[in-house]
Amino acid sequence: MSKTTTHIASSHATPTDPSTTAAQASAATVQAADAPHPFYWGAATAAYQIEGSPQADGAGRCVWDEFSHTPDAVVAGDTGDVACDHYHRWPQDVELMRELGIAAYRFSIRWPRILPDGVGPVNQKGLAFYDRLVDGLLEAGIEPFPTLFHWDLPAALQRRGGWSNRDIAEWFTEYTIAVTSVLGDRVKRWMTINEPFVVAEQGHLVGVHAPGIRNVFAACSAIHNQLRAHVAAARLIRATVPDALVGIVLHSAAAFPASASPEDLLAAEVAHQWHNYPLFGDPLVYGRYPVELERLLRPYMPDGYEDDMPGLQQRPDFLGLNYYSGYQAQHDSQRWLGFTAKPEPEMPRTAMDWIIRPDGLHSVLKRAHEDYDLPAIYVTENGAAFDDVRSGSTVEDPDRIAYLDGHIRAVLQARDEGVPVHGYFVWSLFDNFEWARGYEKRFGIVYIDFETQERIVKQSGRFYSRLAREGRAALS
Ligand code: GCO
Repeated sequence: MSKTTTHIASSHATPTDPSTTAAQASAATVQAADAPHPFYWGAATAAYQIEGSPQADGAGRCVWDEFSHTPDAVVAGDTGDVACDHYHRWPQDVELMRELGIAAYRFSIRWPRILPDGVGPVNQKGLAFYDRLVDGLLEAGIEPFPTLFHWDLPAALQRRGGWSNRDIAEWFTEYTIAVTSVLGDRVKRWMTINEPFVVAEQGHLVGVHAPGIRNVFAACSAIHNQLRAHVAAARLIRATVPDALVGIVLHSAAAFPASASPEDLLAAEVAHQWHNYPLFGDPLVYGRYPVELERLLRPYMPDGYEDDMPGLQQRPDFLGLNYYSGYQAQHDSQRWLGFTAKPEPEMPRTAMDWIIRPDGLHSVLKRAHEDYDLPAIYVTENGAAFDDVRSGSTVEDPDRIAYLDGHIRAVLQARDEGVPVHGYFVWSLFDNFEWARGYEKRFGIVYIDFETQERIVKQSGRFYSRLAREGRAALS
């Protein structure tokens, strides 16, 4: 695949089926013309990446507040202290989404706004922020899809061991009930944890994300305890929120074998089990960790973890999959999981240096459906960073349009082939704090001038807006 072949979108912007336009533009849930079920065209963000004002109105600190203020932890010393100032500007941000025709908004709730110490007294002002946001979204005809945990663990809980402490399953349910008891009357789709794999690997094994730990035992405890926390919270939400649907959001990156050798095929399988949905999905669906992977992880898992497994078997109502990229997996006996992940040569890349493989998204969706047969899958994040340059009041970003076009086609193809994909959330609504990469990597369909906080809809935002209003007719 060359860059030119993926670059197909900008000339296909005109809707070909005008009959779909007017009715659907006004509908709260915008459907593709021939969708077999409601299909949400959504946009995604996360609290620490956009809100700013981390300590406002009585909120507590989170691990990312501490990590981002650690010298050399984040590019250019960037922090989430201000970010997109969404904490103050949310009304105009919701209005912008309404104007763009976005049908669903995936955002996350900052745990220490609600419980400043992670457990204990509820901070009503923090809760009120999300209460107003949900009302604002609903008034704008936008379906709220909150995520309870997108990496901003209360710092007070980290001091008690964070994800390494088994008690975190109870801490997480205490937080969950504080949120759902207030928002549950209006919010029906709940996502518990975002990319628990990344929390474990980047935060506890490699140490480039908060809390900056490098310890394989801590990483494996983080895997197991996030799973336990998800299950406990999901059970509680189902028991207390009428009509709730509960899912988990899992990382995916397509692993292609570097060759057809049996060693590389096994390497690709282990890579798939580690990086993709099986690490968390298999326990939920089958009550066990993925077989090859468990053999490798067992020495590092918390004592007695096997005893928890039967209780962890609890099928989610939906699976959220975040997908950005693919890579080659090659057998490497020197590596702890027996494989090396390497970029495929000759493939186009984003500004993150991530290989562009829309076919990988198609295959991950197909495989997740074949493996689990869940009622619904959402693509909860997909998008790309490119080196955007603002030119007056526009940002021309043809590479991002091509990226989105290619991946959305892959999603719709999977849906046409019977995968119950119920929605797509572009990552991201805004340029934002890209974790250890700070503000230098821009993923938004809306450009943020971080000096003035001006919001400028990129050309990709216009493209996505047409999709949201017209469905797939906007593609060809
Ligand atoms: C992720 C994160 C996002 C990132 C995005 C781009 O889930 O990995 O949810 O917060 O910003 O993936 O790296």
